[in-house]
Amino acid sequence: MDNIFEELLAEVKDAIRDFHNSKELYDARMRFLGRTGRLTALYKRIREIPPEERPAFGQKINALKEELEARFAELEARMHEKELAEKLSGESVDVTMPGRRVTVGTLHPVTRVKNMLIDVFAGMGFEIFEGPEIENDYYNFTALNTPADHPARDMQDTFYVSENFLLRTQTSAGQIRLMEKKRPPIKMLCPGRVFRSDDDATHSPMFHQMEGLVVDRHITLCDLQGMLDEFARNVFGKESKTRLRPSYFPFTEPSVEVDVSCHVCGGTGCSLCKGTGWIEVLGAGMVNRRVLENCGIDPDEYTGFAFGMGVERIAMLKYGINNIKLLTENDVRFLEQFKD
Ligand code: DAH
Repeated sequence: MDNIFEELLAEVKDAIRDFHNSKELYDARMRFLGRTGRLTALYKRIREIPPEERPAFGQKINALKEELEARFAELEARMHEKELAEKLSGESVDVTMPGRRVTVGTLHPVTRVKNMLIDVFAGMGFEIFEGPEIENDYYNFTALNTPADHPARDMQDTFYVSENFLLRTQTSAGQIRLMEKKRPPIKMLCPGRVFRSDDDATHSPMFHQMEGLVVDRHITLCDLQGMLDEFARNVFGKESKTRLRPSYFPFTEPSVEVDVSCHVCGGTGCSLCKGTGWIEVLGAGMVNRRVLENCGIDPDEYTGFAFGMGVERIAMLKYGINNIKLLTENDVRFLEQFKD
């Protein structure tokens, strides 16, 4: 029996001589040390020998097992190093190869202007409030002092979803939704998409608006203009000024149209401002008492101003874009001009 060990060891030594890769080495390990390997077979033979010899026999197998394991471990470590060295020598980097250019996207100009406006007004203490895009008639019109037969409804061609539901035509609906929930002092900015059946070089059926609302005691038109001046300086340059012209909106009284001094010619007259020195940018006014009443706010105690502007219009003015369609075509040649 004794020479079994010597034979096995000799066999291992013989087998161990040249392995070409770690697969061969693994197979050899399994042949000797695996579950159905030679060593396991030896353990099984313990039963064949007299009981008094078994402990010595067992020790011998264990010693052999340890030795084999140590040898294989050493061989595996060497094989690993050898294979790694081969792999590394086969891989090389061609430092003269041109790099792959990574193209980075840009924010859409409408998103840029929207973010900029939010920054400007948030800086003045406005909180952001977003209403739903599908509105009912009450919030979009009636509560804003525009009942069913009111001629001002013709100012905005409406997409109806059903008899009573529509795609909001103005973010002004956000005023009502907020005032129903919150008591003055109110300082809110409501950005969002609006929809109108309108389509030409400066109008699109979907566009973005930014609605502002301030309600508190003693709010006046002067507060409105002071805030608008700050807006104009931030968006169109620090020399910018605003002027108010009388206008009409059902939800404000008095109502105004707000012009900003032309940022291209500085007010002397050019093709952008059609020689007038001024550009119309938004509608505004003092919140109509009926609107406050509709929301349960006492108009004798509180007054407020509101304004609404088109984000696409501001973007077109600011960046000199002459057709609103450019903003929805997603032509990369157009969009990449807005890189920082
Ligand atoms: N909602 C108006 C529109 O879409 C814009 C507007 C005008 C909003 C005057 C206002 C405002 O809050 O006071 O044409």
